[in-house]
Amino acid sequence: MIKLGVNVDHVATIRQARMTYEPDPVIAAGLADLGGADIITIHLREDRRHIQDRDLELLRETVFTKLNLEMATSQEIVDIALKIKPRQITLVPEKRQEITTEGGLSVTSQKKLLTEIIKKFKDNDIYVSLFIDPDKEQIIASEEVGAQSIELHTGSYANAEREEQSDELLEILNEAVKIAQDVGLRVNAGHGLTYKNTGPIVEHLDIEELHIGHSIISRAIFVGIESAVREMKELIYKHYTIKQNLLRSSSV
Ligand code: PXP
Repeated sequence: MIKLGVNVDHVATIRQARMTYEPDPVIAAGLADLGGADIITIHLREDRRHIQDRDLELLRETVFTKLNLEMATSQEIVDIALKIKPRQITLVPEKRQEITTEGGLSVTSQKKLLTEIIKKFKDNDIYVSLFIDPDKEQIIASEEVGAQSIELHTGSYANAEREEQSDELLEILNEAVKIAQDVGLRVNAGHGLTYKNTGPIVEHLDIEELHIGHSIISRAIFVGIESAVREMKELIYKHYTIKQNLLRSSSV
C-alpha cells in the first residue's frame, strides 16, 4: 500500500498568525496518527513562518511512525537536522518570498554541495529524499549525488485546468517514476494533492509515499484531523485496490 505522509505545517501557520501556543502541530500529529497517518511531515523553513524548532524537537520525541523533515540546504538548517536526527529528510528549494515550495530542487546545478550534505545525513543513518520535478536529468543527478529516494513534484499535475492536460502530466510523472526506478531510486510524490486529484496518482504511479498537507488540514477545520486523515487513507486504499484488481485481471 502507498504510505500517507501528513504535513502539519499549516496547523503551525494558524498558530503563528497570532504568535501564540494554539493550535499545536504536535497535537495535530498525534491526531493524524490516530487517523492512520504513516508519516508526519514538517518543513522547518529558514524564516520559521510556521514550524518552529520546538515543534521539530517535540515531534522527534513523539512521532513513533516516521518523521520526515522537509528542509533547505542552508548550513543552519543542516546543523539542526543533524542534531535532531529525524528518520528522513526531504531536501527542497526555498525562497523567502514564495507562498509554498515552488518547483523542484535543481540537483544538476549543485551536485557537489548535495553530495557532501547527503553523505553527512547518510553517515548519521538519516534517509535522504530529494524533491524534484519529473525531469530525466534531475532524476539521474539525484542518484549520482547519493539520494536514496526522490519525491516527484505533482504541482503541475495538480494545477492542470483541463483533463487532457492532467492526463499528459500524469504520463510525464509515470515516465519519471520508471526512470527513477531504473537507476535504483525509490519514489514518492506530493504537492498540491487533494481529495479530488489524488485518485489518478494512486492508480497510475508506482510510488511508495504520498505527502499531503494543505488539503488535509483544510478539511480538518470542518471534520477534525483524525477524520480528514482517515478519509484520505480510505481514498488511497480505494484507488490502490482498483489498480491491483486491474493488474490482476490484465495478467490472467
Ligand atoms: N511535499 C513537499 C516537498 C512540500 O514542500 C510540500 C509543501 O510543504 C508538500 C509535499 C505538501 O504540499 P501540499 O501542502 O500542497 O499538500
